[in-house]
Amino acid sequence: MKNLKQFNTFNLDVNCQEIVFLNSDEDYINFQKTSSPKILIGGGSDILFTCDYHGIVGITQNKGIEIAEDDSVYKVKAEAGTKWHELVENLVNRGIGGAENLALIPGTCGAAPIQNIGAYGLEFDNLCDYVNVVDKNGNKIKLKASDCNFGYRTSNFKTLWIDNYIITSIGLKLSKKWVPLLDYSPLNNLKKIPNLTPKLIFDEIIKLRMNKLPDPKYLGNAGSFFKNPVVSYEQFCKLRTQYNDMPYYEQPHNQFKIPAGWMIDRCNLKGVTIGGAQVYEHQALVIVNKGNAIPSDIIKLAKHITKTVEQKFNIRIEPEIRIYGSNGEVTLEQL
Ligand code: EPU
Repeated sequence: MKNLKQFNTFNLDVNCQEIVFLNSDEDYINFQKTSSPKILIGGGSDILFTCDYHGIVGITQNKGIEIAEDDSVYKVKAEAGTKWHELVENLVNRGIGGAENLALIPGTCGAAPIQNIGAYGLEFDNLCDYVNVVDKNGNKIKLKASDCNFGYRTSNFKTLWIDNYIITSIGLKLSKKWVPLLDYSPLNNLKKIPNLTPKLIFDEIIKLRMNKLPDPKYLGNAGSFFKNPVVSYEQFCKLRTQYNDMPYYEQPHNQFKIPAGWMIDRCNLKGVTIGGAQVYEHQALVIVNKGNAIPSDIIKLAKHITKTVEQKFNIRIEPEIRIYGSNGEVTLEQL
């Protein structure tokens, strides 16, 4: 048995049968071809192990960033094991704009397409050009961004292609005509700044995230535990009549995204603790491990949150993170 505590940002003390580190395309191909049950993780920052995993855990470690350019775009290739934040920082330090709103998102470049990571008005798919993968037979395939069916915290990697492909590297396309994205309200004050640069936005995002989100080095967590639910216009109107201070983000097709963190907060759940698991005091969408949490504390707390929010708002919020049982991925309901 191998211990996974240092490989999951919840810092849970769980085991698996074997850990393998993947450093090259050849390692990925061999990993895909092993017949044992297996899962691949990057930074372990979006995952909840609910018990020991009866299989092999692969950890991406191939690192590297290549940048090419033509007249209009920068073409960036990053190996799957490269830390996402290091990629953003590298680009910003070269004066290349476009990815700065995604600063400080934990995890690796290879994990970014799976959830279609996003923050402050920008999502991975806004930048993605292609995703290189290895299929079950060990063939290398280059998938175009348009093949991946990216959506809010989802993609074909989480649904249709689950367990079929593993990501070895990603390609981004960043326009040389940089346009700052400042529509998200905490960034509005930057609109006044003359000669705004990607670096200034990068620094501001880091400040915002550090204020709201706990650093897993000191307090185990996996970022937002739940997704923000998207509701119909009718449901939105009903809620807004009842809660006229309710924040919301308008979506395409007459839908509305409601911050789950706000709903959890309105249920007075901030700080609520079960065993070693707690609803984070500064951002209710995050569950933290106060140090001694066991997986069932987190599961119990997540279920308590889901139930309480559903009773108050008649909306069932869904986990954003991926949950694993002894034999593979499971849902919160199954636990
Ligand atoms: N709010 C509260 N109380 C809380 C938390 C939030 O009232 O405890 C309110 C805030 O005041 C704000 C609204 O809810 O009006 C939204 O909150 P916030 O700006 O913190 O963003 P979020 O919707 O909770 C999402 C992403 C984050 C991302 C931020 C910033 C999801 C699931 N989460 O959170 O992503 O950093 O927006 O863009 O979409 C992650 O995925 O792990 C993550 C951290």
